[in-house]
Amino acid sequence: MKEDKQLGIQFEGKDVYVKDVFTEISSYYDEMNDIMSMGMIKRWHKFMMKKLGDLDGKKCLDVGTGTGEIAFMMASRGGNVTGIDLTPAMIELAEKKIAENNMPAVEMIVGDALNLPFENETFDCITSGYMLRNVTDIPRAVAEMHRVLKSGGVCVVAELARPTNRLIRPFYNFYMNRIIPRYGRKYDKGQSIDGREPAYDWLTASIEGFPYGKAMTDIFFDVGFDDAKFFVKSFGAVNIYVGTKK
Ligand SMILES: C[S@@+](CC[C@H](N)C(=O)[O-])C[C@H]1O[C@@H](n2cnc3c(N)ncnc32)[C@H](O)[C@@H]1O
Repeated sequence: MKEDKQLGIQFEGKDVYVKDVFTEISSYYDEMNDIMSMGMIKRWHKFMMKKLGDLDGKKCLDVGTGTGEIAFMMASRGGNVTGIDLTPAMIELAEKKIAENNMPAVEMIVGDALNLPFENETFDCITSGYMLRNVTDIPRAVAEMHRVLKSGGVCVVAELARPTNRLIRPFYNFYMNRIIPRYGRKYDKGQSIDGREPAYDWLTASIEGFPYGKAMTDIFFDVGFDDAKFFVKSFGAVNIYVGTKK
């Protein structure tokens, strides 16, 4: 296993493992998200929308869309939205939500964030929520988002992080190490995936060693964003990155 400030946790076969993890947890993913975020996930997404600004008629892309929650939020604000995800089971669930739950129309595609199947400068707005920890090449995924973003466009990425505040840290550690695994076990049954850790052990372990804050905005600048800022939410449990292209 390789760990580096800009690379996050990488290992051989990570792309297959990640796809298998999300296939395994797809049916209870939304429910677990609410638990993992202590119900705060919608608030983080609303903050992302605020940073995107007016979406009416804009061409939008949500990378690593999963079950489509961020994509649906953009569409409900008037965006013309495409969602893309590596895991067919997650895309199937997103499509099911459109068909059965009256979600706004979003084009859903199976595809890889490391090779986005779009021309340069296609989208006015790009979002990505909690995907970057899962990719095999973080700078490349950020570079791909930059490539398909139009000049004048904005890219907003949410990712989990570890709170640095010494007072908050013990509560955070207790929640991540005790509470989440308890709920996670109920769903993933502690079953190893591809000979590695069970699904929710990966979701918490992948936060360790993941670049956040300035280390992440440095990646945004390195791949060509003209500006990159980060906003710390929920005492540092989540960071929201905003990159712009002139
Ligand atoms: C933690 S989920 C986040 C889903 C959604 N964005 C949300 O806010 O709930 C991470 C998603 O990233 C997807 N993913 C991981 N690696 C990817 C890649 N290389 N290309 C596209 N999607 C990827 C996974 O299949 C999974 O659906």
